[in-house]
Amino acid sequence: GKGAAMVTAVAYRLAAQHAERQSILDTLRLSREQLLEVKERLSEQMVRGLSKQTHEQASIKMLPTYVRSIPDGTEHGDFLALDLGGSTFRVLLVRIRSGKKHTVDMHHKIYSIPQETMQGTGEELFNHIVDCIGDFLEYMGIKGASLPLGFTFSFPCHQSKLDQGILLKWTKGFKASGCEGQDVVTLIKEAVLRKREFDLNFVAVVNDTVGTMMTCSYEDPRCEVGLIVGTGTNACYMEEMQNIELVEGNSGRMCVNVEWGAFGDNGELDDFCTQFDHTVDDCSNNPGKQRYEKMISGMYLGEIVRNVLMDLTAKGLLFRGKVSERLKTRGIFETKFLSQIESDRLAMRQIRSILQHLGLTTSTCDDSVLVKEVCSVVARRAAQLCGAGLAAVVDKIRQNRNLNQLTITVGVDGTLYKTHPHFSSIMQETLQDLAPQCQVTFHKSEDGSGKGAALITAVAWRIKCEGQH
Ligand code: GLC
Repeated sequence: GKGAAMVTAVAYRLAAQHAERQSILDTLRLSREQLLEVKERLSEQMVRGLSKQTHEQASIKMLPTYVRSIPDGTEHGDFLALDLGGSTFRVLLVRIRSGKKHTVDMHHKIYSIPQETMQGTGEELFNHIVDCIGDFLEYMGIKGASLPLGFTFSFPCHQSKLDQGILLKWTKGFKASGCEGQDVVTLIKEAVLRKREFDLNFVAVVNDTVGTMMTCSYEDPRCEVGLIVGTGTNACYMEEMQNIELVEGNSGRMCVNVEWGAFGDNGELDDFCTQFDHTVDDCSNNPGKQRYEKMISGMYLGEIVRNVLMDLTAKGLLFRGKVSERLKTRGIFETKFLSQIESDRLAMRQIRSILQHLGLTTSTCDDSVLVKEVCSVVARRAAQLCGAGLAAVVDKIRQNRNLNQLTITVGVDGTLYKTHPHFSSIMQETLQDLAPQCQVTFHKSEDGSGKGAALITAVAWRIKCEGQH
């Protein structure tokens, strides 16, 4: 009868809606073949980045870091470290004690960098940084000391020695004018001169991936890869000198900063990108740049999710079809919400309360289920892409050494990696699948960027002092 027909119509409409939702989510799902393709293309770009002839055009820059030696345990002393690259700026005093059980003591202070300063002039940014350093030296009572200093500066830098870093381009949230093409050590030194209150003794400029690798290799000599999955994403690893054409010399190894965030900037990811990725890229600080990073890291995942939710809502598949002002607001989904929403311990009503907290009033339980599914599809893709990149890196190391089987440790840091309930396991699953000849252990690093910069400085300082004696 009529009732049965109505029930059928409703069932039919629900099935159609379900199919429509899934077809939108399917665009964010990658097959094994696609992931293998990502690994292959990334490997290709790594080789191109290392070679003199193709370096300019390569999307991945493979930057030499001038870090060759790993701490031998004899280094000791007091060092200063600076850490710039996330949402805050940190100054650290690091005390390294040598001996059988080497220990590292740290004191630090965190300073915020206002959005206006990040995106103002370089002079304003570096004045602010030097003010913070001044405050810290005062606070620790070491203003006259001029300790050897390591600067973790987590952006792509061209280096022709350890204590120099020419900023190639800003990434993540930074945009201060007049810095690209300049040596960041010079920029700080100029700000120090303007302030005329203290002196700094720069020994090393360090990428956060390199600091992370170093910190971890201090405890585990098998650690020859550093990985960051935080605001941005990137990796570094020990490469054979003979493959690093940009640096003279053929013996031994040097750490290379891959700068893989820029993978895809020559279109290598175009066949895997969705409309949501394009929107997030278009609305970013640096359209067309850091395309791989924009599919993986904490600064962008929430924006991808928000764009998917807006699309689903506009199509009447979510939030009763009502696109609220809140949902239209950029940046409402921070990494921590992604991690919370996917926590397995959470009941649906808790997800609902997180969404409510975000100002997204969900009307139905189905809405909460769908939001969670969107978060999980977006995070899974990120973790898989990251795993594919790591597969390219470890397989390169294995091939460099002519090994059938490689055992290696990766030092990792970054809030997304550390707080997301599933990111690391999905990433490792993908890695194992795509690089089956590599046996990879992950080692979470505690404050790699601060401690690592100090360790690198300590090694360089030891070698320099040995040379003088
Ligand atoms: C961005 C930077 C890179 C850094 C990474 C993680 O990709 O360009 O240098 O290592 O973020 O912080």
